[in-house]
Amino acid sequence: MNKPLAPNDFEAYLDRHENKDLLRFLTCGSVDDGKSTLIGRLLFDTKLLFADQLASLERDSKKHGTVGEEMDLALLVDGLEAEREQGITIDVAYRFFATEKRKFIVADTPGHEQYTRNMATGASNADLAVILIDARKGVLTQTRRHSFIVSLLGIRQVVLAVNKIDLVNYSQDVFDRIVADYRAFAAELGFERITPIPLSARYGDNVFARSENLPWFEGPTLIEELETVDVSRDLNDKPFRMPVQWVNRPNLDFRGFSGTISSGTVQVGDKLAVAASGRVSAVKSIVAMGEDDKARAIAGEAVTLTLEDEVDISRGDVLSAADNRPAVSDQFSAHLIWMHEEPLALGRTYLLKLGTRTVRASIAEIRHTVDVNDLSEKPADTLKLNEVALVHVTAQEPLAFDPYAENRTGGGFILIDRLSNLTIAAGTIEENLHRASNVHWQALDISKGARANLKGQKPAVLWFTGLSGAGKSTIANLVEKRLHSLGRHTYLLDGDNVRHGLNKDLGFSDADRAENIRRVAETAKLMVDAGLIVLASFISPFRAERELARSLLQPGEFVEIHVATSLEVAEERDPKGLYKKAREGQIANFTGISSPYEAPENPEVVLDTASVSAENNAETLVSWLRAGGYLVSSEDWVI
Ligand code: ADX
Repeated sequence: MNKPLAPNDFEAYLDRHENKDLLRFLTCGSVDDGKSTLIGRLLFDTKLLFADQLASLERDSKKHGTVGEEMDLALLVDGLEAEREQGITIDVAYRFFATEKRKFIVADTPGHEQYTRNMATGASNADLAVILIDARKGVLTQTRRHSFIVSLLGIRQVVLAVNKIDLVNYSQDVFDRIVADYRAFAAELGFERITPIPLSARYGDNVFARSENLPWFEGPTLIEELETVDVSRDLNDKPFRMPVQWVNRPNLDFRGFSGTISSGTVQVGDKLAVAASGRVSAVKSIVAMGEDDKARAIAGEAVTLTLEDEVDISRGDVLSAADNRPAVSDQFSAHLIWMHEEPLALGRTYLLKLGTRTVRASIAEIRHTVDVNDLSEKPADTLKLNEVALVHVTAQEPLAFDPYAENRTGGGFILIDRLSNLTIAAGTIEENLHRASNVHWQALDISKGARANLKGQKPAVLWFTGLSGAGKSTIANLVEKRLHSLGRHTYLLDGDNVRHGLNKDLGFSDADRAENIRRVAETAKLMVDAGLIVLASFISPFRAERELARSLLQPGEFVEIHVATSLEVAEERDPKGLYKKAREGQIANFTGISSPYEAPENPEVVLDTASVSAENNAETLVSWLRAGGYLVSSEDWVI
């Protein structure tokens, strides 16, 4: 046993441990199972470094520039900060300890109701999970839940720690029964290695020292297993992948692509392909920070590669072995772990971050949810906090990926809410679903500008949003008449009308409204491309979809008009008698009453209909358009 280290011993400590390999592992279980005791025991029996010492360790390692250590520890601490910035309180405590053979980072996730989210965070970069079982209780629902999440996150090595073996008189029968139960359940989870160990965290049996109370047990102690288990994950045997983090161009003579090799190895002369474009070139040189050029680099190394040819590569591209490339597709199936209070809205546009690439994406379909307690599958049309499902993802641009089971960095992603910037889900890719693999953009000779020119106008979308009965369609109709009389080419897309045709399959659930607006936004975009001034009149209650509509157009082409009639006034008017029905419970999900309306935060125009007539509002808008240069004719401007 070693005494705690004084802070000024850190440098020596780090030097001593720099060249050891690292095992990241996760502990799963509840306080009742003795998890804290076990972690305390590991820290106490090794070169203990408690959480409060971690901060000074990190400072010291930065100051002393011990690169190997700095990267690990900075990663650790930064990981936590990133989560904090993302605004989720994730309850994962990381602890660091080391033995003479190896260093360890243990992610300790509490077993309370937020388990899934926390566990997913802790498990995402762990190599092994220690699953704790109370010998008196055996395999419980939570054991199954923990094991499933661990397998979902790609952990293939498990230690089944049958704790409190002292409380069942060190009984081999009890141990054997628990192990048999567990193996039967875990058979379908795809673990490569399950190492059962009877132990007592409290008394230290089989944690560090082999226990004399368990003479019948021939397997390793916990620390022996942790020290010897294979952590290389055979990453070097997998095809070469390096997501490009940045293009390094210090001067005109040097153009390198920097990133961390996520799998495989690379040598000077190897042929690499840029996954998305398919361009191929050979590696000219491999540069690692602070070192001379290398002939070869392996998984986990941060390097800069230069290529023989001038190839167009930017951040987010994936450099891959030319003869073994990742899938490139905008449709794939994935398991999704929902991590946010706000449930999933099918069809809504989220940001998807995979490796160094971020694209817009939506969930097109939920195949089924998986009950984390018994692995049963059920149909669903949304996903709530901590739920897990198999889904179909549609990305707005093709992404390079590998199935998560083959490559965790190449197939693991997060979903981010576009407005709040919060991480709302973690995903693991199953397979490419691209049905039409040879669909490419067709280059056309007549452009948007050419079409607009012929009409002598500047195309735009005037997007009217507001409550039902706010006066959107009335004002839009008046504005269209005015524009028409000014010789403008227009089209009015109106909620009630579009719902009779294009969108007649959609109702008023959040997901249907999201899809309604997505289709309308795409249609409006096509019409702008045709050179028209489009008026769109939709409640469009969610900011996310309005922002999507805006993002489909060029800056300045989208004019958001908030018809800011209050609920009281709209309900008072009740032009279609719908508020009355909604109050009587005859209409579900009615905006303002049983479904939310998110007012625009920065609309281009706000119209007040309580004190201003529809005609005057229409006139105000036309004046606004004129002042903003929307009504100039083609003689006055150049496209
Ligand atoms: S949106 O929310 O998806 O943008 P949209 O503008 O297309 O709605 O359609 C709204 C119109 O549908 C309303 O003006 C109203 O006539 C009708 N309607 C029927 N049911 C509802 C409902 N539950 N909530 C809101 N509008 C409804």
